[in-house]
Amino acid sequence: MNAAAAPLTFSNDLLTGMEWNPTQVRELLHLAADVKAHPDRYRGALAGRFLALIFEKPSLRTRVTFEVGISTLGGSSVFLDHTETKLGQRESIPDVAKNLERWVQGIVARTFSQESINALAENASIPVINALSDRYHPCQALADFFTLQERFGGLRGLKLAYVGDGNNVCHSLLSIAARAGAYLRIATPAGYDPEPAVVSEAKRTARETRGKIELCNSPEEAVADAQAIYTDVWTSMGQEQESAAREAAFASYQVNNKLFAHAASDAVFMHCLPAHRGSEVSGEVIDSPRSIVFDQAENRLHMQKAILLTLLN
Ligand code: CP
Ligand code: NVA
Repeated sequence: MNAAAAPLTFSNDLLTGMEWNPTQVRELLHLAADVKAHPDRYRGALAGRFLALIFEKPSLRTRVTFEVGISTLGGSSVFLDHTETKLGQRESIPDVAKNLERWVQGIVARTFSQESINALAENASIPVINALSDRYHPCQALADFFTLQERFGGLRGLKLAYVGDGNNVCHSLLSIAARAGAYLRIATPAGYDPEPAVVSEAKRTARETRGKIELCNSPEEAVADAQAIYTDVWTSMGQEQESAAREAAFASYQVNNKLFAHAASDAVFMHCLPAHRGSEVSGEVIDSPRSIVFDQAENRLHMQKAILLTLLN
């Protein structure tokens, strides 16, 4: 079999979003579209399979979309609430992983630290899916690029601006934008930029896909001619003690109508949610017809079903 015809071998886990190459990301976007258009085709695909859902932080979208997605594929989930006790507190993370792999066929984990998710993956032979950590939120970014693909018909050269904190969501948008061949411009205040290692990996990948990654400190520069403007909270879960300093540092980074005036006339607004109206986004923007935040939220369901089908079948 020649290389072009060889089946794609996906990594067993989705830990960062960087483990999948541009072709695999394209396949996944294609599968998500099929899952959304023809949900009945996939009913029963996870029959008899169980997934453990470990959450150290609160969640609306991620928890509901995984639980609904797993059920509609015929599988079952077991929710492990770690919002009161940290994972690894009662017994070590390696021991948790080695127990779980004896009972369930996959783990979905939202943890404070990326290292906890990595430790689950290192110690369990079953797939581990990152449902958000301090550093990455790959399910979110994959669903977001699926939403953009639906909206604009393609991703190559698509101009997306991200304004705000160089956080977990920003890191995952970087990785997936690069794989999709999109043009991502990021504006952060000095000191809040994304990690250099994540940026350089994205720039390297973007060279292969003819995508483009640019960083600056000016929101107006980042959004010039953008087709979509994305923002996220200024204070992520786990950073609450920094919130006053962050409110001050990000004060001029609000996405509002004045900033939108610099973007393309039909530009859309994106946010992973939950949002804080009056901080990172004005009510007039998030509640306007150009906002596609609930399409993003809906597509978490379809994209995560595609991820589960890819990793568990
Ligand atoms: N966007 C997102 O992950 O939402 P939740 O925190 O509600 O899961
Ligand atoms: N950056 C945010 C995303 C929430 C979905 C956080 O980590 O809290």
